[in-house]
Amino acid sequence: MVARKKIAIIAGDGIGKEVIPQAVNAIQAAGAAVDLTPFDWGADRYLRDQTTVPPDGFAMLARDFDAILVGAFGDPRVKSNVHAREILLGMRFKMDLYANVRPVRLLDAALCPLKGVEPKDVDFVVLRENTEGVYTDAGGVFKQGTPDEIATQEDINTRKGVERIIRYAFEYCKAHTKIDGSPLTKVLMCDKSNAMTHAGGLWQRTFKEVSAEYPRFTAQHMYVDALCLQMVRDPRQFDVIVTNNMFGDIITDLAAGLQGGLGMAASGNIHPGRSSMFEPVHGSAPTIAGRNLANPFGAILTAAMMLRHLELPKEADRIEAAVLEAVRQKKTTEDIGGKLGTKEAGEWICNTLSS
Ligand code: NAI
Ligand code: MG
Repeated sequence: MVARKKIAIIAGDGIGKEVIPQAVNAIQAAGAAVDLTPFDWGADRYLRDQTTVPPDGFAMLARDFDAILVGAFGDPRVKSNVHAREILLGMRFKMDLYANVRPVRLLDAALCPLKGVEPKDVDFVVLRENTEGVYTDAGGVFKQGTPDEIATQEDINTRKGVERIIRYAFEYCKAHTKIDGSPLTKVLMCDKSNAMTHAGGLWQRTFKEVSAEYPRFTAQHMYVDALCLQMVRDPRQFDVIVTNNMFGDIITDLAAGLQGGLGMAASGNIHPGRSSMFEPVHGSAPTIAGRNLANPFGAILTAAMMLRHLELPKEADRIEAAVLEAVRQKKTTEDIGGKLGTKEAGEWICNTLSS
């Protein structure tokens, strides 16, 4: 008998507390053989007892769980955002979850703001380096608050870090296909090496060397600004895009726009062989939080992505099919054209899964 997978659930703040329960219900309705353990890390806990991550929290997650399902962090009551940084960036950095995998898939033509674009035309993945770049908080401020103030924000790029995410991109091509079953054949590295020459040079040299080891895949390059243009002009051209932390963050919001918005986008934070973390791309959306307005499908599709990663593909397929059906029948929240609330959209998915 296969051991049941153990999943930690951290809903976090804002709409995370609304969408993650719907994702949990979908996992259960799909009958996945998993044990779920909730944790209260987030703004409420931090405001109550100043705890962001309990002692040994990350070691515990890595040791005791196969995967972690996360909502979002960010709360107007915590101006410093310290809890979000320590929990979310802490998980990515300290658990070394170096590959942020963000599939970009259009479920229904009605969700795409581009003219004449069908679901088959938007089916690619962005692989974002997740542990380095400008998000390491290296740098400092000097003469703060004076006219002579200086702020630096360091862009950290290591050979090891760049190489492993580029290699991950080629390995991803080997292990995955497009939705229609056709192979992934192209890896596109995106940087700004014309202006950011030092870091860009490292990415360029590493990409050239690693791509030479994978001759059956086409290696391509685009500057990030040109890529943004191409993504809205012709999203058909992409298979796998690999890029640094900041560019990956930015282009995946743009890419989410092609899929129906942030409420539809899923992601995984992965280190092969270790317990990995899965979260919807969106944040805590404080302006709509607590009002039953948030779209739960990004979180539910994230749950499906996690189950697939945990080698529960049947359950993942069923959840994805239920979301697709909901979109087609407009059983959705208002952001993508339906009339349902967060709970009702989640219930529709569960009823479909249970029937
Ligand atoms: P956001 O993703 O929370 O919201 C951006 C816009 O998209 C808002 O108009 C929001 O209402 C809408 N939106 C997002 N998710 C939605 C959903 N599921 N259904 C319907 N509409 C949705 O990003 P924003 O506003 O930049 O940040 C809000 C807070 O979230 C901040 O504290 C920020 O630091 C945090 N944040 C956290 C992230 C995380 O935990 N991974 C990622 C991005 C932001
Ligand atoms: Mg972002």
